[in-house]
Amino acid sequence: MSATTTVTPVVQGVNLVKTFGRVVALDGADLELYPGEVLAVVGDNGAGKSSLIKCFSGAHIPDSGEMLINGKKVEFKSTSEARRHGVETVFQTLAVAPALDIASNLYLGREERKPGVMGAVFRTLDKKRMRADSAQHLKDLGISTLQNITQAVETLSGGQRQAVAVARAVAFGSQVIILDEPTAALGVNESARVLKMIQDLRDRGLSVILISHNMPQVFEVADRIHVARLGKRAGVVTPKSHSMNDVVAIMTGAMKVTAEEQQLTPVN
Ligand SMILES: Nc1ncnc2c1ncn2[C@@H]1O[C@H](COP(=O)(O)OP(=O)(O)OP(=O)(O)O)[C@@H](O)[C@H]1O
Ligand SMILES: [Mg+2]
Repeated sequence: MSATTTVTPVVQGVNLVKTFGRVVALDGADLELYPGEVLAVVGDNGAGKSSLIKCFSGAHIPDSGEMLINGKKVEFKSTSEARRHGVETVFQTLAVAPALDIASNLYLGREERKPGVMGAVFRTLDKKRMRADSAQHLKDLGISTLQNITQAVETLSGGQRQAVAVARAVAFGSQVIILDEPTAALGVNESARVLKMIQDLRDRGLSVILISHNMPQVFEVADRIHVARLGKRAGVVTPKSHSMNDVVAIMTGAMKVTAEEQQLTPVN
């Protein structure tokens, strides 16, 4: 990308502050996520990663600072408001209902009613349609390991559960998917599947924020790496410009990102 091209970020945070009593979780944090990119957010425990994305997912209301979606100022007071703006989040603690089947989980909180009187008056759920649509969403995502849409989520593997959570996020026309530590509890194969899914989402033109402590995974899928430190952005680098050791050094404050090294615009 040339220096003169200006692309509007899909998600932008400017000088965000969030405190919890005396604890300063965000101390003037900035973030930009551009169309069709995977932005990794890394940082030490307590650096403010989850607090930052929770502002964009509507789970936290920042004390001050600005949030913009596609260049327009927004103020989210709930996760459903963020969803209406196309921002879907898979939180660090997965929000799935284990006893329900896959289709019910995908439509949790936004169930489809049957057409006509049965739906409007008797509030009858259109299970057949939800199952058919769920199967299609999972197929679209290339999730082939989930064969039975009526299977209870509690019987799925960790990776498959993550897949359901991601499918839920993308099923509703979201433009931004935020994943907070999606592979932390997963095995090698399941992690690989989630990473493949992230790459597929980007290939479909969606923008992804991936919070992760796993450097090899970050370096595998990220276009840019946003390093959070002490509630601020310490810098943005790329897997090409910096090594894993460099990124860890930036996380701990041992290394500084110079103005020339900053990758604040999309790569290529
Ligand atoms: N609900 C809360 N109440 C009080 N303090 C909080 C709350 N949420 C976060 N904090 C504090 O804010 C700081 C940033 O926390 P946050 O969860 O954003 O960190 P993180 O970068 O996601 O860490 P981790 O890598 O461990 O997930 C921490 O000091 C944390 O204790
Ligand atoms: Mg966190």
